[in-house]
Amino acid sequence: MAESIKKEDFATDLLGEESLDNIHHVNNPVLDVPTIEKKYLGKVVSYVKDQSAFIFTDGKASVEIKVFSDEIIRVRLAPQGTFLDDFSYAIKKDLDLRPTSFSFDETVDTYCIRTSVAVCKIQKENFLVSFEDAEGAVINADRAPMHWEESPDFGGYYVYCTKETQADEAFFGLGDKSTNLNLRGRRFRNWNSDTYGFGFNQDPLYKTIPFYIGVSSGHAYGIFFDNTFKTFFDFAAEKNDRTSYWSEGGEMQYYYIHGPLMMDVVKRYHELTGTHYMPPLWAIGYHQCRWSYYPEANVREVAQQFRKREIPCDAIYLDIDYMDGYRCFTWNKRYFPDPKKMISDLAANGFKTVVMIDPGIKVDEDYWVFKEGKENKYFCRRGDDYFMEGYVWPGRCQFPDYTNPKVRDWWGTLYKGLVDDGVAGVWNDMNEPAVFGRGTFPDDVRHYFEGLRGSHRKAHNIYGMQMVRSTYDGLKKLQRNKRPFTITRAAYAGTQRYSSVWTGDNIATWEHLRIGLLQLQRLSVSGLSFCGTDIGGFTGEPNGELYTRWMQFGVFSPFMRVHSAGDTRDREPWSFGPEWEAICKKFIEIRYKLLPYIYTVFWRQHKYKEPILRPISLLEQHKPENLQREEEFGFGHHILVSPVIHPGQQSKIVYLPEGTWYYYFDHTKYLGGQEHQIDTPLDKMPVFVRGGSVIPEYPVMQYTGEKNIDTLQLNVYWAEGRYDSEVYLDYGDTFAYEQSVYSEKHFIVEGKQDSLTVVQYQEGMYNERFDTYKMYLVGVPFTISRIDADGSILTMNTDDQGQSYVSVEKEFRKLTII
Ligand code: GLC
Repeated sequence: MAESIKKEDFATDLLGEESLDNIHHVNNPVLDVPTIEKKYLGKVVSYVKDQSAFIFTDGKASVEIKVFSDEIIRVRLAPQGTFLDDFSYAIKKDLDLRPTSFSFDETVDTYCIRTSVAVCKIQKENFLVSFEDAEGAVINADRAPMHWEESPDFGGYYVYCTKETQADEAFFGLGDKSTNLNLRGRRFRNWNSDTYGFGFNQDPLYKTIPFYIGVSSGHAYGIFFDNTFKTFFDFAAEKNDRTSYWSEGGEMQYYYIHGPLMMDVVKRYHELTGTHYMPPLWAIGYHQCRWSYYPEANVREVAQQFRKREIPCDAIYLDIDYMDGYRCFTWNKRYFPDPKKMISDLAANGFKTVVMIDPGIKVDEDYWVFKEGKENKYFCRRGDDYFMEGYVWPGRCQFPDYTNPKVRDWWGTLYKGLVDDGVAGVWNDMNEPAVFGRGTFPDDVRHYFEGLRGSHRKAHNIYGMQMVRSTYDGLKKLQRNKRPFTITRAAYAGTQRYSSVWTGDNIATWEHLRIGLLQLQRLSVSGLSFCGTDIGGFTGEPNGELYTRWMQFGVFSPFMRVHSAGDTRDREPWSFGPEWEAICKKFIEIRYKLLPYIYTVFWRQHKYKEPILRPISLLEQHKPENLQREEEFGFGHHILVSPVIHPGQQSKIVYLPEGTWYYYFDHTKYLGGQEHQIDTPLDKMPVFVRGGSVIPEYPVMQYTGEKNIDTLQLNVYWAEGRYDSEVYLDYGDTFAYEQSVYSEKHFIVEGKQDSLTVVQYQEGMYNERFDTYKMYLVGVPFTISRIDADGSILTMNTDDQGQSYVSVEKEFRKLTII
């Protein structure tokens, strides 16, 4: 260790898995708990350059700094000088990042690697690594040299990184943590866990997303600690001036992601880990789920009720009871004598069927899945070579090792029967993996890990991700390249490439409605934009008001599904009586009206890497008070909502970002950049549309694709200034969009006190069926005297409700309204 660094400077930073309470005991001499012996990087003695990477050494340990792009720089530590395999499940395969240019220079004290926007500095004397912007402002800096611990006494190997924390710094990200949006002052652990009825602040939960965003002085950056072992994050909890992350194994390997905008940090994180593909359109409709709808007559009855009551719905879910003794890929023929017929009847009525598949395979010599898995050695084994066995729904089970590509291929083929039966989507659950009694697998379970091998300590957090990956790949092949729909409970960073997610077994309480609001915003900035909660709460009983308020939030959740546990009362939108049914229906209809807008938001997520839900901190990070706001969020670029999350709430204070906003329900105009008191009667919620937007709307349909669209409604919201909007359309279920068979319509709206112009241009090769836009003009501050589309004069029409609109040919280039 270098002379100039006193170990005491750093020694108190991290103490492994201990809770904060225990940490205080460490300093208590009475208990005489030994401190952990840590080793720190010493003085840099030499370096070598290797293409876009530099390797520095203190004589023994090495640090690699690699420039991925102008904004992304990776740091790796090899305590013994040998780096581990450069492999990651999180990073997408076809990564094509490279810096435009970068340079290297050396001063007496430092080495500097410069890109066009960021500078990585390594202090020679003490190996401290820091990142600055091009102007020399320090954005993120080591507080201590990277360090590690290899101690048999403490059961293993730990790697640590400790960063300086600024007084005003706020932290975001980290996946599904059930806590306030700003993570500062808290410590977290990532170890995917089945947490039925979890609570506020409970940690860990189902997912591991070791990515966070720091914001200080209005400047954001990201850290992605790509390590699949149990990882820990301490955001200035133990010491107010430092933030640390560490793991119980693997490599200290992290990506520094430059901002300065939070939005750009999230986009760059997506550059590394990918985005969700375009979901099939039906997947963003309303979904009805229950543990479980059975027998068949019950499923049919629920479907029938939706159509009878004219409440739109696109999918019905079958939870574990559809299976024969919980054996995956089988049917309980007593409950479902002819699944194919049932599914096709449902499909004829506009319902997709989604089924549950768990990883636990029943140990049963007469069960083909078990036999195939056993013969081919596809199941996980313990350190002593015995099979990993545990109890889940079917009783005694063994578990596929999804970290083996052969096993993933096999698992993918198992869906053939279900797909032939007409199943449209798959729900993967219990994949933390969950095992009754013991929680999960013991640490000694061996995994193939793409041939690199690893114990369960290394593979635990990616087990669920690899399961749903194989589900996705299998469905994609079997459904002949139709876009699959999958949903998973467990996830690791990058799971968005294969699946949507939900937040697991929440509770039917107002507090949980709020937790869901926080979780979905957080998942969205952590790369998992296609996310939802169990609307109404999984366990416990909501009353009509809670259910309805949750449904309202559900309309603005990327994934919209009602789900509940088996022992709860009915949870269909009509279950709470006519008063609540009417409001739920009205809100589900809003979801369906907004479908083309929501679909466009998914496109922006897929193509432009924008999160679907946008916390106010992400929209306006330059205002310090915004870093604490958590109730209102952007739903895509043009809509802002603030769900009602308290019983009996008559009104609420809503902050609107800078600009002009229109209340969705009556078009009242509001000035942004300030708070407003908004009435919240039960049949409304604060929903606002940004002035300058063009919002496409569909007529209400009972399911996606029910009606042909012969004219597309566009609502144009006037605002002073120039604004961009897009509308994305395609076939809705094929991958043709990857070959540019889509239409991305751009609208440039320019509002003045006495005029409004809309300029349109289109990208892509899809030619939709409609040929006319039905345009509604909202908030125009002048009396309209003339409407001109590319030189032709148009007149205003009046619809059935007495609202004025103008019909414009879809090919128009410029519309001028004066
Ligand atoms: C788990 C899931 C829940 C599901 C239940 C039965 O608790 O989280 O959604 O209904 O298992 O399969």
